[in-house]
Amino acid sequence: MPTPDLDAVVAAGRRAIADAPDLDALREAEQAHLSRRSALGEVQRSLGGLDEAARRDLGRRVNQARTTLQAELAARRAELEAERDQALLEAERVDVTLPGRVPPRGAIHPVTRTIDEIVDIFIGLGYRVAEGPEVETDWYNFQALNLPPDHPARSMQDSLYIDSGNGREAGELVLRTQTSPVQIRTMQAGPPPVYVVAPGRCYRADTPDATHLPVFNQIEVLAVDRGLTMADMKGTLLAFARAYFGEERQIRLRPSYFPFVEPGAEVDVSCFICGGTGEGCRTCRGEGWIELLGAGMVHPNVLRAGGYDPDEVSGFAAGTGIERPFMLRSGLADMRTLTDNDVRWLTSV
Ligand code: PHE
Repeated sequence: MPTPDLDAVVAAGRRAIADAPDLDALREAEQAHLSRRSALGEVQRSLGGLDEAARRDLGRRVNQARTTLQAELAARRAELEAERDQALLEAERVDVTLPGRVPPRGAIHPVTRTIDEIVDIFIGLGYRVAEGPEVETDWYNFQALNLPPDHPARSMQDSLYIDSGNGREAGELVLRTQTSPVQIRTMQAGPPPVYVVAPGRCYRADTPDATHLPVFNQIEVLAVDRGLTMADMKGTLLAFARAYFGEERQIRLRPSYFPFVEPGAEVDVSCFICGGTGEGCRTCRGEGWIELLGAGMVHPNVLRAGGYDPDEVSGFAAGTGIERPFMLRSGLADMRTLTDNDVRWLTSV
């Protein structure tokens, strides 16, 4: 068998190693030129058939050739590894001078923010927060609040009954039309005195328009203690109006009717836009006053329904929407904007 020309074998090996464009190709070149099946391996295997002098001579040259190729291989490998590492570094380079990518943060919904703000004002006056279910019984939502089954004042609230649809049975379920049932639940839960605010969602069969939503929020205020009078109520509501609409504000009480209070009143706040003059003012429509909430002294029947003795304690209650005061203060014209979920607007108010 003709022995391959060692110099040619080495030259071919060196070329393959030098030309290997990457580490995979280099591994292939190593297989092709240094393994037992390579030309060099073949020469090595042929040594066995030679006489001793020739074997020693060729053996030395084969070793030299292998050493040379291995050195070339190691050098090329180091080169290619350095290239690979460099490329990795480039790819993973972090430019610490680039401005950061700020993830969108959203915002607290204006309704939630308004609730928090109003609750904070009352917490500051020593009140605590009370809660009740949004699905109420007819009894809690109406009857315990002095609205018996056929009371005409029920028509003031277009209720959403969720079973029979008539709304006359004490246990019949209704989506609460007001936060006032929390008054009853609070009194039932413990003895007087109570000073609570109860914010939460309410429901009425209203068609949505600029000033009505079928799902809206209210906040209820209830204070029951020994000897509370209307003066306490007025002072408390004045403090609230000033904290929310500004220290300059005044309030006025107009007689009004809510079955669960006696006497009852609508409470107006002096306009925070025109200062109460009303001149050319669109916010108060020239009135100088803005309707703010319903209020009154808790009716004896309501105290009794809560398990309290009207001869022992008295109290006042007030209730207002959440959306309306927010709209007044922010100048928002259409209540439906609050339910649009347009993040551009929600993060701007
Ligand atoms: N619950 C009444 C309403 O929804 C508001 C109110 C609460 C009035 C407490 C008086 C006292 O209109």
